[in-house]
Amino acid sequence: MDAEFWHQRWQKGETAFHEGQVNRLLEQHFQALNLPVGSRVFLPLCGKTRDIAWLLDKGYQVVGAELSELAVKELFAGLGLTPVVIEKENYRHYQAAQIDILVGDIFQLRQADIGRVDAIYDRAALVALPEIMRADYARQLIELGQTAPQLIITYEYAQHEMPGPPFAIPAAEVQQHYALLYGIHEQVRQVLQGGLKGKTSATEVLWLLTPL
Ligand SMILES: C[S@@+](CC[C@H](N)C(=O)[O-])C[C@H]1O[C@@H](n2cnc3c(N)ncnc32)[C@H](O)[C@@H]1O
Repeated sequence: MDAEFWHQRWQKGETAFHEGQVNRLLEQHFQALNLPVGSRVFLPLCGKTRDIAWLLDKGYQVVGAELSELAVKELFAGLGLTPVVIEKENYRHYQAAQIDILVGDIFQLRQADIGRVDAIYDRAALVALPEIMRADYARQLIELGQTAPQLIITYEYAQHEMPGPPFAIPAAEVQQHYALLYGIHEQVRQVLQGGLKGKTSATEVLWLLTPL
């Protein structure tokens, strides 16, 4: 799953992962983070998710990281915002009131690029990456977010039934990546209605990670 894979997906419009509406687990469980209004929420691998509109509407600030400039242009168009675009050495910064989106490879970003993070919301980000990349991703997220609390949505299913993304992430793997620095709380565990891509039955899990 290299950069080219994702650029192709966006260029061809093969973006079934894009929900087009607010994620219901976000809506129902965001309050578990107990964040004051005005807090800054980091969305790694954010695409053009409508969850950003929901967070802004609730009075939160948003910082996102996304490889595809096409996705980010569509994100701002969907928000009805005209961003200021600032060229940086390792990314392109799209900025408007209460929102900063860093267009580039998340692995090339530094903590100072991201700035303050009060919480992390990981939907279709950890699960978008193959196993070989996930430990590096988790470490990078810890570095960029400075162990801010996290909400993570994962899927559990028999990986041999379908190639990812999204990939299956067993509970033990969440522990492996984050248990040293976070308390790990299973908030929701439910059967995913209709399965994944109609190819396999799957369980959807919402994790709340609180810094130790
Ligand atoms: C499965 S999509 C999920 C998008 C979004 N989180 C959502 O819920 O709709 C994964 C996204 O990660 C982006 N991406 C993949 N690898 C990346 C990387 N190394 N750095 C930044 N973004 C990346 C892709 O372009 C894609 O938009």
